[in-house]
Amino acid sequence: MTRPGLFAAIFFFTASSAYAGPLEDRAALLDHYRKILPNVRFEDYVFGTLSMNPSAKAQYDDIMSFPPFSIDVDEGQKLWEKPFKNGKTFASCFRNGGRNVAGDYPYYDETLHRVVTFENAVNACLEANAEKPLEYGAKSMGLLTAYAKSLSDGMKVDIRIEGSGALSAYIEGKRYYYARHGKNGYSCAGCHVDNAGKAVNGEKISMMVGQATHYPEFIDGTVLMTLQQRFRQCAKNIGEKPLEYNSEQYNDLEYFMTYMSSGLPMQTPVFRK
Ligand code: HEC
Repeated sequence: MTRPGLFAAIFFFTASSAYAGPLEDRAALLDHYRKILPNVRFEDYVFGTLSMNPSAKAQYDDIMSFPPFSIDVDEGQKLWEKPFKNGKTFASCFRNGGRNVAGDYPYYDETLHRVVTFENAVNACLEANAEKPLEYGAKSMGLLTAYAKSLSDGMKVDIRIEGSGALSAYIEGKRYYYARHGKNGYSCAGCHVDNAGKAVNGEKISMMVGQATHYPEFIDGTVLMTLQQRFRQCAKNIGEKPLEYNSEQYNDLEYFMTYMSSGLPMQTPVFRK
């Protein structure tokens, strides 16, 4: 387990005895999954539903050895490497030229008083170089981040919840995840926590831990889907109006969910059915 937001845990422990903090939330969640899915190893959580279906996992391994989306990723690479009008590139905006950095996103920015996603950092880079920002949810943003995040393959997710602003954003994300939505009153947690491993339409529901490590992904190997597109998809499936891309609620949700995947290796992009 990596740095678990010790400050936040201590902060909250002293502020409220009823709620201990993210560290305890995560420990309890992992404990829950260990109990209901005793045969799935922690490192396999990144495979989600595939971790519970050996034949689908074997097929996945096959597909990933020669992924049908490599052409799309090349497209993303071109976008990433294309010089700005001032001659600089995206690499100039990120530590280490953008290698092994994606596992630090999203983070909470104390100056901006909000969560900063990887997409936000891409747009901040464009704006800092007098370029037009990309639209959130646009294909170009998806392709660009699919390639850029592939530069962090294998990096362990390392999300920190430090300070009261970060803790509030985390709590908002958590609240959304556990709240009931849509006309049937489903919550994300009702499926991905309580009923992980149970089948819906022949597909076993994945555990939330591990989900945030592999986005964007390509559905059926060709259709690009970002994490927030997936949020919108699941919202539609349960009859809820999807929220806007880059809304504060979705960014907080992403922060909460990615924190829960701390310690697991990034792999982006991947194939999913
Ligand atoms: C009725 C049950 C149900 C509810 C409620 C639900 N989901 Fe899902 N979700 C699924 C199923 C089934 C899948 C496809 C199988 C899988 O990968 O888990 C899925 C897939 C996902 C995935 C992709 C997993 C992966 O590893 O590729 C994410 C992310 C996700 N859901 C997030 C959410 C969020 C966020 C919410 C709340 C807004 C939510 N889900 C609500 C059933 C549900």
